Amino acid sequence: MIDIVIVGAGIAGLSAAIKACDNDGVVSLISPDYSERSQSVMAMGGINASLNTKGEDDSVKQHFTDTMNGGCMINNRDAVKRLCDDAPEIISWLEKNGTCFSRDSEDNIDMRNFGGQKKKRTVYAGSRTGKQIVSALINACRKKEFEGKIKRYTGYRFLSLIFTDENECCGVNCIHEDNEEIKSFIGDAVIIASGGYNSLFGKILGSIQNDGFTTAKLFTQGVKLANLEMVQFHPTTVKTPQKRMLITEAARGEGGRLFTMKDGEAWYFMKDFYPELADLMPRDVVSRSIFKVSEGGEKEVFLDLTHLDEYTVKVKLDEVYEICMKYLNIDPLKTPIPVFPSVHYFMGGIETDENHKTNIKGLYAAGECSCQYHGANRLGGNSLLGAVHGGWVSAENAVLEKPKGEVINTLDEELKSLESYTPKDKSLSNTLNTISEIMNDSMGIYRNEDDLKIGLDRLDGLDCNVNGKYYDYLKVKLLIILSKASILSALARKESRGAHQRTDYPKSNIDFEKSTGVIYENGRIVIV
Ligand code: FUM
Repeated sequence: MIDIVIVGAGIAGLSAAIKACDNDGVVSLISPDYSERSQSVMAMGGINASLNTKGEDDSVKQHFTDTMNGGCMINNRDAVKRLCDDAPEIISWLEKNGTCFSRDSEDNIDMRNFGGQKKKRTVYAGSRTGKQIVSALINACRKKEFEGKIKRYTGYRFLSLIFTDENECCGVNCIHEDNEEIKSFIGDAVIIASGGYNSLFGKILGSIQNDGFTTAKLFTQGVKLANLEMVQFHPTTVKTPQKRMLITEAARGEGGRLFTMKDGEAWYFMKDFYPELADLMPRDVVSRSIFKVSEGGEKEVFLDLTHLDEYTVKVKLDEVYEICMKYLNIDPLKTPIPVFPSVHYFMGGIETDENHKTNIKGLYAAGECSCQYHGANRLGGNSLLGAVHGGWVSAENAVLEKPKGEVINTLDEELKSLESYTPKDKSLSNTLNTISEIMNDSMGIYRNEDDLKIGLDRLDGLDCNVNGKYYDYLKVKLLIILSKASILSALARKESRGAHQRTDYPKSNIDFEKSTGVIYENGRIVIV
């Protein structure tokens, strides 16, 4: 039996766990929260696969081309090729495992339009696709849990990687949320599926559990990251009393149109700017267009669904309807929805090859925490696909690992640090808010050298000695490092490409048609 340690129990972690078991692995599945509360459940619009059942002559090749174009050519081509090749098989696998996708009148799995794609290629389950997939995968894990092939450890947060004396990764230390118990999980290989780092930008879309701690800690332990400057803004989000919420791209896929008022009339600007794909241009383009016509947020922009029929809005876009009625007090069948872009997804993260291997032997990464598929801008519908695919591929490769060296466990050092930490005066929440304020100020839809440098200076001035627990101190320290690495990556890319738009370098430059790598060496962040 091969012991696989998986950190994260969203779609990537669950897919990896199932595949590892199918390949003779036994799994420790570690997560701070239940899978039902992972960020994956928030995914709405769908999952891409060129099933070609709509008579549109779609193909795997076209899916590949659209994904590379969307990513502005800095995606890992080999990884994207495998992703698109395997997509139809992934849909069958998900269906076999109990995912209830929406169907058309001929009882085929239905597909809808999504951004950056001319063909209907996005398989969906109303606008609750993530929830459907998570439920099915939880179910698929249950039997394996009963058979003892998967053991879940819920309530544990990742603390650090464990290595052998030959620098192979062979486990992780984790800390329990409630009692601060530190536990070591030793295995033959480790798969990190810890998601993006949404809360680094404050109360935006996504789960606040996804804060970047794991990615940042890995970075300081020698793991190479890439493309941290590539932060995706979703064009259509709404403000609710608690946080921003997503109005899925599926709303535009089903015919929704953006407008702003001009000379007393509704101006459907996307059609004027981009006649071919209009509202279905890739997200970076739509977000910038909204930013432009709204004069940086001064004027309101609306998403108009009032011309759509009741079935489309109430059934195909069920969650959109619910959000509007419940949180905005708007009936989208009658009233346009005020929208604005917000941070949604991180194309960058832990650099992996097409086998999902990192630069450390025995260490794999899958899902949003990893970087290989999406380049400078992810197409909607490719994240769920990337999460399942990353789970599959990382597990299939991880089960082939067998570390050669002796385990060097740092548990004692972790315990010593934990016991010796005494809380300081500085407010934890104020410090975290300041970090997210800095990130929003310097890493917005448009950036420039001055703002990025100001961001770095402000981060330098922050004190990580906060009035929380040891974990909180560590978190602040690591998030400052991750924030700096992101800003330095943005400074290094002296061009505009996809989600990275520099007002001081407004054009793309062929010299930068590559990833921005970043490593942590002797306490310094180095762009490579
Ligand atoms: O708009 C959406 O439903 C988001 C989908 C995605 O990010 O893939």
